[in-house]
This record gives sequence, structure tokens and C-alpha cells, in this order.
Amino acid sequence: MEIFSDRAFAGKSLLLTGGSSGIGEEIAVQAASLGMRVAFCGRNAEAGARVEARCQGRGLFIRCDLTVPAEIARFVDEAGAFLGGAVDYLVNAAATDSRLDFDGVDEKAFASFVNSDLRPAVLVTRAALELLRRGEGKSIVNFGTTNWMIGLAPFTLYGAAKSGLLGFTRALARELGREMIRVNMISPGWIMTEKQLKLYVTEQDKKDLLRDQALPFLLTAEEVVPPLLFLLSEGARGITGQNLIVDGGKRME
Ligand SMILES: NC(=O)c1ccc[n+]([C@@H]2O[C@H](COP(=O)([O-])OP(=O)(O)OC[C@H]3O[C@@H](n4cnc5c(N)ncnc54)[C@H](OP(=O)(O)O)[C@@H]3O)[C@@H](O)[C@H]2O)c1
Repeated sequence: MEIFSDRAFAGKSLLLTGGSSGIGEEIAVQAASLGMRVAFCGRNAEAGARVEARCQGRGLFIRCDLTVPAEIARFVDEAGAFLGGAVDYLVNAAATDSRLDFDGVDEKAFASFVNSDLRPAVLVTRAALELLRRGEGKSIVNFGTTNWMIGLAPFTLYGAAKSGLLGFTRALARELGREMIRVNMISPGWIMTEKQLKLYVTEQDKKDLLRDQALPFLLTAEEVVPPLLFLLSEGARGITGQNLIVDGGKRME
């Protein structure tokens, strides 16, 4: 098993939701630099094209709104064709982490969070299952968050959707294990993406994070991608149904 060879991922295929920004962008670019072919999606065509250009000819951006089931079906079809009819790895990274006070929660908001943060991973995985069965990598990773584990507010709906994704991950790992398809979760803490820094992170937040984490530095997408690659790799072939927290040791399980 050549798990630490720099050729370990060469020629492999990755189906990725998100990818036009943030952690997903870093996943797409790193995967392509390791020799994988990457099909990824987002709604922002300009951002998607920019990331595709960073993928050295090995990436394909497919514009798609994952809240629309018909678009999910088209995304997986087009991705499957680009990836040669088989998928080694599936990473469900797309999500929307909007803040919403519980006073503002209604049926519409509930549907919106479920349709953005829970349903896409289920439907993409279902649509891609035959492609995954044909692939050799046989590894799925869903993106969670430590957010609900530490009870952050105002994130009731985001937390409900993301914690649901962990239940999905574990039950699916049990169901697909016999076929040697593994299903795991990565749960990041607060990651300093461009968007988080621009919209949310204050100087006080940074100080609080540095106080609460065991490791005294602020994490970026560069700290999230290597653990993800490990879970995708042959090196993790004995690991399924697990939730790997990447948060600098703020929360320990
Ligand atoms: N950053 C953090 O601190 C943090 C912490 C914990 C967990 N996470 C999780 O890590 C993952 C990546 O987070 P991030 O911070 O990198 O997010 P981000 O910068 O907001 O990027 C989200 C990605 O998902 C895509 N996306 C969202 N909704 C979509 C939809 N309806 N249809 C198609 N694409 C959609 C976006 O594409 P478009 O904008 O082009 O539509 C974008 O490519 C998410 O699952 C998030 O919950 C992040």
C-alpha cells in the first residue's frame, strides 16, 4: 500500500460539492495538484471559472444550485461523464452557514436550511452511488461542523441540519461497509476563510479562539485539506462512520 507516495492520488477522480470558494476551493486545487480529476459545483459562475483555472486542466466547474433536486441530478450526470464514468471519492462540502435567531425561525427558514445543508449531501450521494461503486477509492466524506457540538448561537437550524448529516454519515457507513465503501465526516472548528474574515471574524473572536484552542494559531483551509485527504486515502481503509474534528483542539472528544 503506497499511502504516502506522492502518486497515491494520481489519476483518481473526485466529485466535490462546493469548490467555488473557501475550503472547497482549497480541496479542488490541492486535489488537482495531486493528479486527481475534480468535478465541482457552485452557483457563482465567475468564482467557479476562477477555481477551474487554478486546477491545471484537471478541474471542471459545473454551475448548479444544490437546493434544486433536478440540478443535482444534472450535476452528477455531467460530473460522471467528465470523470470517465466512475468516481473514486465524493466530498460533500457545500453548505450555507447563515446566522438566524430562533425568533426568526419559521417553516420556510427550516426548509431553506435543510435544502442547503442536509438534503444536497443525501441526494448527491444517492445520485453518485453507482459511480462510486465503479470507482476504486470508495470513500465519501461529508462536511460537518463543531458548531452544534459546542452549542453555538444563533445556529439552531444550521446545527440541526449539520448534526443530521452526522446521523446520515454513520447509518450510511454501516449500510455501505459491506461493499467496502467508507463514509466519514470532517468537522472543522472556525476556519479563517476569506468569507469568514470578511463577514464575521472580529479581533475579539481571534483572541477568544487562541485562548480556547489547545494549539495557539488560527486555522485556515490548509489545515483542513490534509485530514480530508487522509480520510479519502487507502491509509484510512479501516476507518468508517467517524467524525474527525479539525479545530486546533478547542473541543476534544
Ligand atoms: N469556514 C468555517 O469556519 C467552517 C466551520 C465549520 C464547518 N464548515 C463547513 O465547511 C464547508 C465549507 O465551508 P466554507 O466556509 O468554505 O464555505 P463557503 O466559503 O461559504 O463556500 C461554500 C461553498 O459551497 C457552495 N454552495 C453553497 N450553497 C450552495 C448551493 N445551494 N448550490 C451550490 N453550491 C453551493 C458555494 O458555492 P457558490 O457560492 O458558488 O454557490 C461555495 O463553493 C461547509 O460545509 C461548512 O459548513 C466551515
